[in-house]
Amino acid sequence: MHYFRYRKNELYAEDIPIRELVSEYDTPLYVYSYNTLTRHFKAYQDAFNGIPHIICYAMKANSNKAILRIMANLGGGADIVSGGELYRALKAGVKPRRIVFAGVGKREDEIEYALQKGILMFNVESEQELLKINEVAARMSRKAAVALRINPDIDPETHPYISTGLKKHKFGIPIEDALQHYRLASSLENIDVVGVHKHIGSQITQVRPFVEALERVLVLIDSLKKEGIEIKYLDIGGGLGIQYNDESPPHPRQLAKGLIPLLKGRDLTIIMEPGRSIAGNAGILITKVLYIKQGHERDFVIVDAGMNDLMRPTLYNAYHHIVPVKKGRRSKIFADIVGPICESGDFLARGREIPAVKQGEYLAVMSAGAYGFSMSSNYNSRPRVAEVLVKGAEHYLIRRRETYRDLTRGEEIPEFLK
Ligand code: LLP
Repeated sequence: MHYFRYRKNELYAEDIPIRELVSEYDTPLYVYSYNTLTRHFKAYQDAFNGIPHIICYAMKANSNKAILRIMANLGGGADIVSGGELYRALKAGVKPRRIVFAGVGKREDEIEYALQKGILMFNVESEQELLKINEVAARMSRKAAVALRINPDIDPETHPYISTGLKKHKFGIPIEDALQHYRLASSLENIDVVGVHKHIGSQITQVRPFVEALERVLVLIDSLKKEGIEIKYLDIGGGLGIQYNDESPPHPRQLAKGLIPLLKGRDLTIIMEPGRSIAGNAGILITKVLYIKQGHERDFVIVDAGMNDLMRPTLYNAYHHIVPVKKGRRSKIFADIVGPICESGDFLARGREIPAVKQGEYLAVMSAGAYGFSMSSNYNSRPRVAEVLVKGAEHYLIRRRETYRDLTRGEEIPEFLK
């Protein structure tokens, strides 16, 4: 559910016509709905109300400071994967004790930064990383709280690029080797073993893989207990899918219904790391039709947003619904919706039947709130676009459009070339 709806054939973000936002901020433009974001966050909160839990929003989905502040104000934390994300989260007011740090390649300086700030825990992905964290913590005379990220070998049945919990993936520690890694961890002087972490993939549209993965991890937690290793935090990762096209992903309530019975009676705080299911359908990308080119096999609708602004279609062949901002009766065309970038892979949609749009009108690329702006780049020296947050009838610029000056910021021409 989201708050991008037509009223009298005009697309609105909450109570504001998109047309108004375009005339104020120009295109391409990311527009986010405050009430959708909070609704999605609260859906998790309500669903897991019965058990102790922390919602650590996976900020890689959308790391704008204003979005993070919304999460923090609602009591959320953050799932981070870099020093840069830690910096952003802290700037946005996320409490360090609600931050968990994942990722297979944490650098020493990032580990140090996180220890200094006192994050809740590191989600450790290998033995060498564990030893490195121990070493850095010793140097700082600290104890580092860790969870080991376990790879439960579960197929989430999602796109291969965003599936992470199988043996062939680089993520986590194979569940068969988990005990041995935990023994090592608990023997290390500057490591405090507090949790177990798993994350099996993204855009998962069924509850079953979550249940199966949890069952496997709970068996591990029981074996750990027998060895005297007490687990306080069980981090179940993120991954709940959203509706892009005709999927019907479970609501957090259904996820909770599947998981909570397994957790009853255990003294565990559950950590969740939802990203897409919070931000995905809370954002759209508005783009202008520059030209229509009639081809022999299909038409090309050339728009001012490209693969650098929204990479998902070309990278994952992902489907995003694309609709005109102003609806009306018209015939249909069969078209590719493409950007201005010099690559054949620069498309937002391919072979799509859409209303016969016209030059100069605006289109909305739906479900673009997650992994949209956060994966955008300056390729072809295109300034990154502006981001706007809408709340009811109010709108706020939360990231200004980059300028040409921003493009060369930090670059230098060496003396010998001058
Ligand atoms: N936790 C961990 C450890 C993760 O690696 C991820 C996502 C999440 C949580 C959040 O997952 P979510 O709830 O958003 O599914 N760029 C891709 C998605 C990559 C996801 C990477 N990890 C896309 O645009 O589909």
